[in-house]
Amino acid sequence: MRLDGKRVLVTGAAKRVGAALAGALAAHGARLILHCNRSRREAEALARRLRAVHKTDCVVLVADLAEPRQVARLAREAARAFGGLDALVNNASVYAKHPFGTATAADFDLQMAVNARAPLLLAQALAPALARARPGKIVNIADWSGQRPYADWAPYCASKAALLALTQSMAKALAPKVLVNAVMPGPVLEPASGGAAARRWKRAAARANLVGRVGAPADVSAAVLFLLAGSDFITGAAVPVDGGRLIA
Ligand SMILES: NC(=O)c1ccc[n+]([C@@H]2O[C@H](COP(=O)([O-])OP(=O)(O)OC[C@H]3O[C@@H](n4cnc5c(N)ncnc54)[C@H](OP(=O)(O)O)[C@@H]3O)[C@@H](O)[C@H]2O)c1
Repeated sequence: MRLDGKRVLVTGAAKRVGAALAGALAAHGARLILHCNRSRREAEALARRLRAVHKTDCVVLVADLAEPRQVARLAREAARAFGGLDALVNNASVYAKHPFGTATAADFDLQMAVNARAPLLLAQALAPALARARPGKIVNIADWSGQRPYADWAPYCASKAALLALTQSMAKALAPKVLVNAVMPGPVLEPASGGAAARRWKRAAARANLVGRVGAPADVSAAVLFLLAGSDFITGAAVPVDGGRLIA
């Protein structure tokens, strides 16, 4: 599967799963627009590494996806960066625990804004450019918990459920020129906090799925790569990459 020369915008690409995704896409020949918000230094370092290792074009764009005007600017700059766009990967996300009774309106609004509204606004703004790619591709990184929510993460799970609904809605609106799918990762990378809490997370996550271990960012990258380069006959799908957690 090759993406030679394809122009791909990856949001939240500076670190963690987003950086792994960017690395996998660059390794398969994509030209990348790496979006970041607070992690500009990491994004610039990643861009330098990807240019050096994969001899591919790589630019960095900064935007706070909670701010619609910045989302609009990101879309304009992304479409201009390489004179068009072939694919959008909505990976950026806010992931915050709010035991029932503690979530504020601001907590809810932030997660809905970054995890669901921004992907829709980006897709709307970039649809004309993506349609010229015939087919353009959008991959939304959701979460298995968008279908089976946790009690203590209501705003996050609701935002990922919204992203899954948006995936189907956009697949209908944009067919056949743009194909829109979602990937639903299970646990693939422990929380950035690290330490004992991360180790507990890993053990509990491994026990809870059918495969008996946590996955890796590369598992998410493989699914995204397949949706971008492996088939032009899938749209409106949500692919679990969760070791069977959804049915466990
Ligand atoms: N990690 C897992 O095991 C797991 C499991 C299920 C689903 N997922 C999904 O997979 C994706 C990647 O996971 P991850 O753990 O790598 O994500 P993450 O580290 O929690 O977040 C990814 C990036 O989102 C960006 N972001 C957050 N708020 C933003 C804002 N207001 N504006 C713009 N960007 C913002 C951040 O960019 P900056 O650092 O530049 O600010 C951050 O680096 C997410 O969609 C997540 O929900 C992950």
